[in-house]
Amino acid sequence: MLEIRDLHVDIAGSRILRGISLVVRPGELVCLLGRNGAGKTTTLNAVMGHRCPVAGGIRFGDADLAMLPPHRIALLGIGFSPEESEVFADLTVAENIAMPTWTRKQGRPAAERIERAYAVFPKLRQYTARGGAQLSGGERKMVSIARALALDPELLLLDEPFEGLSPLVIPEIAQGIGAIRADGRAVLIAESNLHHIPDHADRVHVIERGEIVFSGPPEALARDAAAMAIVAAV
Ligand SMILES: Nc1ncnc2c1ncn2[C@@H]1O[C@H](COP(=O)(O)OP(=O)(O)O)[C@@H](O)[C@H]1O
Ligand SMILES: [Mg+2]
Repeated sequence: MLEIRDLHVDIAGSRILRGISLVVRPGELVCLLGRNGAGKTTTLNAVMGHRCPVAGGIRFGDADLAMLPPHRIALLGIGFSPEESEVFADLTVAENIAMPTWTRKQGRPAAERIERAYAVFPKLRQYTARGGAQLSGGERKMVSIARALALDPELLLLDEPFEGLSPLVIPEIAQGIGAIRADGRAVLIAESNLHHIPDHADRVHVIERGEIVFSGPPEALARDAAAMAIVAAV
């Protein structure tokens, strides 16, 4: 479904990604784990068309994503919840979540897509009329993920879904990710904290200085001393 092959990306003249390769198959949950500055966000940004590869390829089904602008990539069915949530402050929660049903007409009917998004984070039903600026960090994350879901994506990219959240909110987000998965969607999570990796993850890729230094299931990561030394340092 998503295939990143030998991806190289430069930012401001520096090589930031050095040959990233990974695949996400339908329904899989894959984690890109690495400390701050390792290149996780750059990888997701490259998938979404916000960063242009200098070498390598990114395919989603039959489409070559490296050739497409971000809005076309979203229309193919890739939802994105960015690191800073980027909830529209001037819109209500309901408007934020409904937005992808205005921009992408493919997929299930709008009402069904919106209902599924709220079903993942039921707490948001209380906040539909609230402005995007009047939300806590955790609520913003939920709105951002729910909005990405309302696109009716086959693949969802979540950049640091747990970052900076209170310990009370973390289980709610983790449960939501489980529900998204149970819905049959593929998920790629960028994460800096080993303890936030869902134990039902199919694969973990550890990224360090723009390179993948470990790939395997979570149990294998726990047995890999070199990879654990990198990710346990966070
Ligand atoms: N806009 C930018 N200008 C210069 N360097 C950047 C920019 N964005 C990211 N970088 C650099 O790219 C590297 C990877 O960043 P990023 O992908 O955001 O890492 P992560 O998401 O793993 O924390 C870092 O060293 C960071 O300093
Ligand atoms: Mg990041």
